[in-house]
Amino acid sequence: MEIDELNPDVLAVKPSALRAFDHEISEDPDMVKLTLGEPDFNVPEHIKQAAIDSINADQSHYPYYWGIQELREAASTYYRDKFGYQYSADQIVCTVGATEGLAATFKTLFHPGDGVLIPAPAYPVYKALAVINHLVPIMVDTTGTGCILTPQEVTDTIAAHSDVKIKGVVITDPSNPTGVAYSKEQLSALVPVFRDHQIWIISDEIYGELTYGVKHYSLSQWLPEQTIIINGLSKSHAMTGWRIGFVFGPAGVIDQIAKAHQFQVTTPTSIVQYAAVEALTHGQNDAAAMRKVYEQRCKYLTDSLTKLGMSYVEPKGAFYVFAKIPKACHQESFAFARQLARTYHVGLMPGTPFGDPQALRISYASSNENLHVAVDALTKELTRVGALVK
Ligand SMILES: Cc1ncc(COP(=O)(O)O)c(C=O)c1O
Repeated sequence: MEIDELNPDVLAVKPSALRAFDHEISEDPDMVKLTLGEPDFNVPEHIKQAAIDSINADQSHYPYYWGIQELREAASTYYRDKFGYQYSADQIVCTVGATEGLAATFKTLFHPGDGVLIPAPAYPVYKALAVINHLVPIMVDTTGTGCILTPQEVTDTIAAHSDVKIKGVVITDPSNPTGVAYSKEQLSALVPVFRDHQIWIISDEIYGELTYGVKHYSLSQWLPEQTIIINGLSKSHAMTGWRIGFVFGPAGVIDQIAKAHQFQVTTPTSIVQYAAVEALTHGQNDAAAMRKVYEQRCKYLTDSLTKLGMSYVEPKGAFYVFAKIPKACHQESFAFARQLARTYHVGLMPGTPFGDPQALRISYASSNENLHVAVDALTKELTRVGALVK
């Protein structure tokens, strides 16, 4: 049996370059890492206690595959109050993190060969999911429009790919890796083009609670019949390792997504589901304290990059700054990031896997001390190569 006889769509996908780079630099025990999208806060105590209580109450049996009723009802209320989502409990599937929700959604919505628009720079998981499902990922360069997808870019891309039936688009709002957040006007401007072309919108709103000075809007407000929302507690409640997410969608479609989900994972862990009920019923303010800290760090980092003469996309949410490597460095992102890691023990994420070989993604979900170390390393490196703009 030969490996190259396995499913070519799986063979075509490479392991996550983000994880691989993080793993590579983690061999150095002194490494200060601003690489992964991993909150440095602990899970709020009341959620931990709910998990412990659920173990003690022997809530150890198979939950219903959509997720327990209590959790779906809690999600319906929580996200309605936060962002105006209009979904009843039977339009919500509880998934193993947002990632599994994305996987079940990609699997359900499309036929092999369908095109999916992915505004770039982009979170690399979308392209991998398109490839693994035998779809055609079409990257739309949005750097000319502030990393915000515009109706013109959509129509131009559709015209340029007349050989592909474009059936979907992914909107990440706020965005990983750029931190941009769409305004109400920017989102509503996209509605006619998505409606006219009957394009499914996969709206990844996992950073919806982490916006700075701007309000989060959901495309589901305008086009609920064509929108599937992906959300979860990984970022808002610092629960990345607990693996709990949610998919919200129109009746009928969501039943099909629930099936795809059932045969992949059955359902998330029972204990986590009970803890998530606590997060959604008593943790409405949990993200607020984290958001305040992230906002201060964002300001420190962007001010520091400005002083260094490094350009970046103006972040309004999530916990990343996507900065350009100065031309004078003459290095693409992996070479530059490796240089920083080797010389200064600082890990920043290369921009190449997100679609920009001349950029770095800096996560500020890390302590102020670590951010100072990173800024110091950048200052030294730019000084060394004569790239520091005074
Ligand atoms: C835009 C985006 N979507 C989804 C995810 C995955 O979330 P989860 O950990 O809940 O699977 C991430 C994680 O970094 C992300 O940045």
